[in-house]
This record gives sequence, C-alpha cells and structure tokens, in this order.
Amino acid sequence: MRIFSGIQPTGAKHLGNYIGAIRQYVDGQDRGDPAIYCIVDLHAITVPYEPAQLRERVLDTAATLLAAGLDPARCVLFRQGDVREHSELSWLLTSVTAVGELNRMHQFRDKSSAQRELVSAGLLFYPVLMAADVLAYRAHEVPVGEDQREHIELMREVARRFNARFGEGLLEVPEGRIPTVGARVMDLQEPTRKMSTTGGSAEGTIYVLDEPKAIEKKLKRAVTDSEDPFTIRRDPATKPGVTNLIDLTAVARGTSAEEVVASLEGARGYGDLKLAAAEALTAMLVPVRERYVELRADEPALEAVLAEGAEKARALAAPVLADVRAAMGFS
Ligand code: TYM
Repeated sequence: MRIFSGIQPTGAKHLGNYIGAIRQYVDGQDRGDPAIYCIVDLHAITVPYEPAQLRERVLDTAATLLAAGLDPARCVLFRQGDVREHSELSWLLTSVTAVGELNRMHQFRDKSSAQRELVSAGLLFYPVLMAADVLAYRAHEVPVGEDQREHIELMREVARRFNARFGEGLLEVPEGRIPTVGARVMDLQEPTRKMSTTGGSAEGTIYVLDEPKAIEKKLKRAVTDSEDPFTIRRDPATKPGVTNLIDLTAVARGTSAEEVVASLEGARGYGDLKLAAAEALTAMLVPVRERYVELRADEPALEAVLAEGAEKARALAAPVLADVRAAMGFS
C-alpha cells in the first residue's frame, strides 16, 4: 500500500495541520510501502509569496515534520520542486481536467476572492498539480484533513478519466483518508470556522511551535457558549466551541470524547475544560517544539534529508511518467 500526502511550506504549522494531517503521516510510516511525504513548494507560488523566504519555509516545515516523528529511514520526505515529474504530469493531466470543475472548487473560490491584485492561473490549476503529486506515485491512500475532500474527489475523477482515455490501469485511483476525530479543527475564537493559516484569527490559532504560555493563554480565552447552567457535552451544531475543546483534549490525551466528558464530571465551569485542554495540548506539543529547535539549527542535515528523499521519489515517479508518456503518444 503506497501512501502519499503533501503539506504547504507556508507560515507556521498549526494544530489543525498537526492533528488533521501530520499525526496521520507519522502513523502511516509503518503501514506505507512506502509512505511518501512532500513539502509542496510549487503550490506555494499560487498566492503572493517572497522568493527569498521560500527555502526557509521549506526547511521550517521539514524540521517540524521530523520533530513530529517522521523518520527518513521509514518514509520518503522531499521537496516537490526537486522532482520534475510533478510539473510534467500536472501539464499532461490538464488534458483530462475540465475548467468548470476547477472553477467550482471551494478553495479556489475562497482563495481567489481574497486576492486583491492578481488571481493567478496557478491558483485555478492548484488541484491539477495536487492530483499529479499523488498520481505520479500510483499512491493508494492520501491522508488529509476534511478541507481537502473536494480536491481528493477531483483527483479520483481525473485518474478515472485518464484511464478511460489512455488505458485502464495506467493510473491508480487513490482513496482519501480523513481522520474520524480532528479532521476539522476549529478556530478557538470563531469555532464555526476551521483553524487556518490565512483565514483564521491569530488569537484563535494554536501553532505547533507555540510556547506553553501562549497555548494556555489562547485556550483560556477560547470562545465557548453562554448555556445556563453550563454543560460540557459534544454538540457541534449548538456548542461548537465546547465541542472543539473536547475533541482537542481527546486527541491529545489519546482517548475518546466520551472519556474526556466523563473525566470532567463535577467541573465548576468551562474553565476546567480549558485547563484540561491546555494540559493535554502542552504535553503533546512541548516535545515537538524542543526537537524542532535542535533540528532546525542544522540546515545542511535538513537539506541532506530532502536531497535523499528527492532521489527516492524520482526513482518511484519516473517509471509512472514513462508509462504515461508512452500511452499519450510521446516518444
Ligand atoms: P496544507 O498545507 O494547507 O494543509 C496540510 C494538511 O493539514 C490539513 N488541515 C487541517 N486538518 C484539520 N483541521 C484543520 N483546521 C486543518 N487545516 C489544515 C489539511 O487538510 C492538509 O491535509 N492542498 C494540500 C497540500 C497538498 C496535498 C497534495 C495533500 C498538495 N499536494 C497531495 C495531499 C496530497 C494543503 O492544502 O495542505
């Protein structure tokens, strides 16, 4: 079973990325044969960015992933821009992708309406490059958070259409793997919105590399509700803030939401839930932060990990591209 996933080198990684995706990558290392993880620098240029910072952000992300538990001996970790097969397959797949489908993608709609100066064609084509990332490896499984569901559906459609046009079995139709709890971590200040690097509030976003004090402060100020008397229970529709805090605590403790609720019987108010969340999240994130500081300091070592990963990735993608080129009539 081949596992593939990608993560953007933009900004600091937040709790949504960590719980929805990064933890799944770590789990996948022992199931994946191989597990392939890609830092998608080519995707990062679809919105305004600073060229001088791109490499730095890639190294930040690589160090975060390694600190979270990725082990280059058990997975393939690389930078997308180092493996030309992604760009090439992306162009080839445009021949079986409908502009209408791209236009309808929610992320395109949200991100393009946020652009003031230029809505780049790259932003529209983002999901095609994402499909190429996965299809270039004939990956079976794609661990992602809930917000990527639509992109996964599109890549499945593109693979099916490609196979129907150029030959059955040429590309693998992948399956998304979306966790049951933590697939959509919500903003602490606006718990009906997902936690995000671009759209969320600074106060409502916990970063993987936040100091324990910052984590506590953000949780203390987290928005709950004014139910009177207060009740600590899961109800995403009417109690989104409380539900988010329960789920975060459950994931960080490695237990179920029911157990978290049971452990808070006799609580004096939502403050106790926030305290429990702060304790559990700090215990989960502090070791990651400590390892990060060490790993990030050694840039040559990070570059060496990425270079080795790119070599392995190329060896896996090249034969797929050769099949695709031949089937499409290229020499
Ligand atoms: P990115 O970098 O924006 O997000 C990385 C992963 O984090 C998940 N995520 C969340 N999960 C739960 N709650 C949240 N609030 C939350 N916010 C983000 C995302 O679902 C994602 O899994 N398009 C991808 C990158 C990509 C990719 C790929 C993924 C490029 N090529 C190929 C899979 C396969 C993205 O937006 O990543």
